[in-house]
Amino acid sequence: MSSDIAARYSADVEEDRIFRLAAPHYDEAQQTIAIAIQSHFRGSNTQSLAMLEIGCGTGLTSDIILDADKRISLLALDNVESIVEQAKYRFKNKQESRVEFVHADALECLQEQPAGSLDAVLSALVLHNCPNEYRKEVYAEIFRVLKPDGLFINVDKYASDNESEHQAALEWQIKRFDIFDTEGRSDLKERWTTHYYEDEKPEVILYEREYIKDLEALGFRDIKRVYRYQLEASYVAKK
Ligand SMILES: C[S@@+](CC[C@H](N)C(=O)[O-])C[C@H]1O[C@@H](n2cnc3c(N)ncnc32)[C@H](O)[C@@H]1O
Repeated sequence: MSSDIAARYSADVEEDRIFRLAAPHYDEAQQTIAIAIQSHFRGSNTQSLAMLEIGCGTGLTSDIILDADKRISLLALDNVESIVEQAKYRFKNKQESRVEFVHADALECLQEQPAGSLDAVLSALVLHNCPNEYRKEVYAEIFRVLKPDGLFINVDKYASDNESEHQAALEWQIKRFDIFDTEGRSDLKERWTTHYYEDEKPEVILYEREYIKDLEALGFRDIKRVYRYQLEASYVAKK
């Protein structure tokens, strides 16, 4: 992983905090993961739930996942080693033993998992960074590793199929990055603005319609959008 790629993401917990000021709805969006886990697994009497998180960053989403159900054991991966180290450090202090953080590429790690072995695969704000072709391979691997009736929950930047709605949401978000100046972090404003425009490139942009089409083609069912605010949406699908 080159430092250029690593520099696209939040570098530490303090940056995560400032970023949340620019995108306050991220927390609400991420809570949809817990809600979906709870509504799907509440009635199940299984003793343990095996889950995999793609792109854990410093572990903010991992926290939400683990809090959703005490039976969860979580394999959380990220392909930036320094970020994984921070996640490990944070959770060591919390004495949480139900999570294992690994430095790995999403596709490679999924390919190592046995077919039909996971109750859920979860991800927040990761896949929109990946090229379309890579993403399709990831979806196929997620389908393979899920148990029948397993869940795939993804909170992400999904471009609305309505282009003018998408452009308005993008402008809203870029304007919100002014808050980085107030926090004395104009460097972050520049970095995140660049990141957001890069996500618009045709080979990367994650359109809602393409997402649904790709998942349906693999055999996913009950594909539902459970949240949208500006650029972000949350999708739940079942195997
Ligand atoms: C925006 S962060 C989100 C982290 C966390 N879900 C959160 O919301 O705080 C995206 C993370 O995905 C990781 N990532 C991006 N592409 C990846 C890939 N192909 N495999 C594994 N991790 C990846 C990045 O290193 C980064 O830490």
